[in-house]
Amino acid sequence: MPDPPTPPVLAARSLDAGHGRRVVVPDLTWAVEPRTITALVGPNGSGKSTLLMTLARVLKPAGGSVLLDGEPIGSRSSVDVARRLAVLPQTAVVPTGATVREVVEQGRYPQLGPWAMLRRRDDGAMRRALELTGLGDHADRRLDTLSGGERQRAWIAMALAQETGVLLLDEPTTYLDVRHQVDLMRLVEHLRDDHGMTVVMVLHDLNQAARHADRIVALRDGRVVVDGPPAEAMTAETLRAVFDLDAVVIDDPVSGRPLFVAR
Ligand SMILES: Nc1ncnc2c1ncn2[C@@H]1O[C@H](COP(=O)(O)OP(=O)(O)OP(=O)(O)O)[C@@H](O)[C@H]1O
Ligand SMILES: [Mg+2]
Repeated sequence: MPDPPTPPVLAARSLDAGHGRRVVVPDLTWAVEPRTITALVGPNGSGKSTLLMTLARVLKPAGGSVLLDGEPIGSRSSVDVARRLAVLPQTAVVPTGATVREVVEQGRYPQLGPWAMLRRRDDGAMRRALELTGLGDHADRRLDTLSGGERQRAWIAMALAQETGVLLLDEPTTYLDVRHQVDLMRLVEHLRDDHGMTVVMVLHDLNQAARHADRIVALRDGRVVVDGPPAEAMTAETLRAVFDLDAVVIDDPVSGRPLFVAR
């Protein structure tokens, strides 16, 4: 008998995502393939964060289900989910007094065994996360004394230290200067290519999405209006349909991917 096909890493089945009884993203059936980068785009309030947080099991669906590796995420324990999936929310509460190292350490807790002690492997994961985010020299700084971009990178480091196969990022490039934005997008590609990670990220910069994602999913009023590879998804029609924006789309001279310029 041939092996059964591997299920998608993450899937939504007739999912109603929302807040309490207010459904924001209705009836979504959707799947994310392994080792891919998916960019979620759309206007403010279109439901991107609501969807991402529901996929991450932070929000409970109002209907339908989310499947992680083919299993309903709601029936798995929080620790079990946290070993497989890390999430960077759009806004996070900054713990007063905590250092970067302490915050990054939090990312290791799901991986600790019954004797909850940090071991050499945890040290390695934390060091790697700090290096990848360029925070090696800031490990002992207090989070509440960092700049907005440094703090954002500390949250990213915390998610990386979790060493999961699935990473959900909500506007990770917000607050980052251009250099750190480019570094972050390259890091995400490296995680996909060399660590086999699956990444879903909310992005507002459509050119960044077109350049680095394998797939662009555009939401408007909670509905998926466009879903496909950048060459198909990033068109003048999409920009009009999703954002009411009049734009031209040209070939990016560096990457060959679509690049839009507003009129
Ligand atoms: N905690 C909440 N309780 C009730 N309604 C909420 C809550 N958070 C968001 N909403 C509403 O849900 C809708 C979708 O919000 P969501 O945060 O998912 O949008 P978004 O696409 O992430 O927008 P943005 O680009 O501004 O981050 C909006 O109408 C918003 O007002
Ligand atoms: Mg949002």
